[in-house]
Parts: sequence; structure tokens; C-alpha cells
Amino acid sequence: MADALGTRWAAAGHDLMVAGRTAGKAQALARKWGGRAGSFKEVAEFGDIALIAVLYQGMATTLAEIGDALHGKPIVDCNNPVEIENFTLVTEPRRSMAQDIEQATGGHVVKAFNLCHARVWQLKPPTFDGRRLVVPYCGSHPGAQEMTRHLIADIGGEPLPIGDLQQAHHLEAMAAIVISLLFGGRDPHTVFNLVDRATVTTNT
Ligand SMILES: NC(=O)c1ccc[n+]([C@@H]2O[C@H](COP(=O)([O-])OP(=O)(O)OC[C@H]3O[C@@H](n4cnc5c(N)ncnc54)[C@H](OP(=O)(O)O)[C@@H]3O)[C@@H](O)[C@H]2O)c1
Repeated sequence: MADALGTRWAAAGHDLMVAGRTAGKAQALARKWGGRAGSFKEVAEFGDIALIAVLYQGMATTLAEIGDALHGKPIVDCNNPVEIENFTLVTEPRRSMAQDIEQATGGHVVKAFNLCHARVWQLKPPTFDGRRLVVPYCGSHPGAQEMTRHLIADIGGEPLPIGDLQQAHHLEAMAAIVISLLFGGRDPHTVFNLVDRATVTTNT
């Protein structure tokens, strides 16, 4: 996800810095973007806004390494806390990973970009049948929401605010369904994208 989104943001003119547990991978991304690699703390301190893109198994370790370096900063959370045996959420009931990240970092978290596969975020731009991809996002801090809105627009998506961070667990639950469809070889479009084309008729 860092590769897919970062590559599009670099192309849109953003200066990027990247960290990861495998330094070589972070350095390769930095070279690709013409940016820099560093430690989690250095990257957190560098940016006006940070994307956290880590598998849920590594989230606690990564957040511990970041410490309070993102305190008060906008954070985009694209993560899906979904295990892929039964496709269920690994978070506490009624609690989202977005809220956990906010609590751990003291940053202003916006949930976004979690519903589509990384390949979709690589599209230049993500349009389907001439229609722009709609990207739902939610957060409780107006400044962080505004910056996220710009980041969505920068990759050619249509930003759709859906409320405060309380809504994040809905986006994470939706992702659990989408991931189960993708792993099952089903096309999520057939589940989610037919509403505006449907003609509702009743014949009694
Ligand atoms: N891939 C998608 O299509 C997609 C779409 C939407 C949302 N997401 C979400 O976005 C996030 C990133 O996904 P991704 O596909 O970009 O993941 P990824 O490339 O497999 O891994 C992202 C980062 O997580 C690190 N990581 C993985 N396991 C770890 C562990 N146990 N401890 C510490 N670090 C660990 C990886 O380190 P290494 O490189 O060293 O393994 C890498 O730096 C996930 O939360 C995922 O649910 C993914």
C-alpha cells in the first residue's frame, strides 16, 4: 500500500520519506520516489501527514517504535485488522484499529484507502466505466480530514466524507467482506456496485 499510494503521491508532487522494518525495502521505495528512508521516528517527525500501512500482526510493534513522534499530527490509516482464515476483525467489538492508532500515537487519525486492493490505487487515475473511484474516509479532526481529502483527490479519487472516527469500524467491517470476496475469487463489484443501475420494480 505504501508503494501504491506513495508512488501516486510522489507523482503528484509530494516529498516523501519512508520507514519499514526491512530497511532495504524502505530504501528501494525511497529511490523509486526520489525521496528518503529513515527510522520510524525520523519519518514521523519529517511529514506534515503520515500514512501507516502495516499488517495488523506488526501494528503494536510499529506503534511502539513510533512512540509519541506523531502526537498531534494527521495520520492516514489504511489498515485492515482482518484475519484471513474466517475473515473476521481482530479488534475488540465496537472498537476500530483507527481508534487504537489514535490512542497509541496521540495523532489525528483519518481512516481511508482501506476498501480497495493495492492494484486499484496504482491506477492512473482509478476510474471505472468513466466514473471516478469514490473513496470514503472518516476522522474527527477537520485539518486531518482536509489533508486526506487532498490526498484522495491527488490520486484521482472522489473523496467521500462519512463522519467522525466512530465510523472507522464500519469501514473496517466492510473491508472484511471485500477481502473475503477477493480471497473467494468473487468480484466485489457484483455485491457493491449495482445500486445506481438497478431498477426497482414490484409486480404484485
Ligand atoms: N495490499 C492491499 O491490497 C491492501 C488494501 C487495502 C488495505 N490494506 C492494508 O494496508 C496495510 C498494509 O498492507 P500491505 O499489503 O501494504 O502490507 P505488506 O506490504 O505485506 O506489509 C506492510 C508493512 O508491514 C510490515 N509487517 C508485516 N508483518 C509485520 C510484523 N509481524 N511485524 C512488523 N512489521 C510487519 C512489512 O514489513 P516487511 O516488508 O519486512 O514484511 C511492511 O513494512 C495492512 O493493514 C492491510 O490490511 C492492504
